[in-house]
Amino acid sequence: MNWKNIFKYKKSRNAESLLETVLARPVPRHISIIMDGNGRWAEKRNLPRVAGHKQGVEVLRDIISTSSQIGIAHLTLYAFSTENWKRPESEVRALMSLLVEFLQKEINELHNNKVKIYMLGDINGLPQEAAREVEKAMNLTAANKGLQVNIALNYGSRMEIIKAARKIAREVSQGKLSLDDITEELFSEFLETRGIPDPDLMIRTSGEYRLSNFLLYQSAYTELIFTDKQVFWPDFNRERYLEAIYEYQNRKRRFGGIDDVQAGVE
Ligand code: FPP
Repeated sequence: MNWKNIFKYKKSRNAESLLETVLARPVPRHISIIMDGNGRWAEKRNLPRVAGHKQGVEVLRDIISTSSQIGIAHLTLYAFSTENWKRPESEVRALMSLLVEFLQKEINELHNNKVKIYMLGDINGLPQEAAREVEKAMNLTAANKGLQVNIALNYGSRMEIIKAARKIAREVSQGKLSLDDITEELFSEFLETRGIPDPDLMIRTSGEYRLSNFLLYQSAYTELIFTDKQVFWPDFNRERYLEAIYEYQNRKRRFGGIDDVQAGVE
């Protein structure tokens, strides 16, 4: 961020003026979020971990409606990884109940706002009620053309890549594909995110600097924003979200090339 931008940024800290600033430039097409720190937020307040997840869902509502309002095409949320099954059974149960409750309560409003719900991950591994609710939400909203909310549930990126490699290998062995057909674009079409553009921006809260097996192939050129460690997911809000988008808008994306200015093209 250059000095001019820092000045503008300070002037526009308030969420609504920040909104105008953000809307004056192209917004990212796809934002992915690792909603981290719910447990620590709760522990800091001597509350059970599930209280942090509950507060996390409140924040999620705000972020979904802001995304829809500013014209983001895709929002991908890491809600439950394949590794999260290692948590105590009571916490897993609470997370699944929160998901079911969220979908039951919010689906009509989401649908009215043309939001499309989509799931990344293995639906078969989910408890029956959660799988049923996710399927219902996906079916109801399948034709919607507004914001697409991709919920990564029982999702792990390495396994997603392995499954894609297996499918491609099968098609090669059946003669449906040749080795030369295997390009970056073709590989993308075998991932769970087929048809979804790669994330432009990934946000992770709570000051942890890693990707945790989330969208590894898709994030090759994604801009990464990590919040300070005091900002847990339940502390995140519309203003912080807009600030992150503003920071993204001030980054130079080179995709391995050089700046237009450096290359003599202005
Ligand atoms: C990370 O915090 C958060 C999760 C593993 C779950 C995120 C889920 C929700 C916000 C709610 C359910 C989702 C939907 C889509 C309604 P953590 O528990 O790892 O926190 P810690 O690192 O402080 O322990």
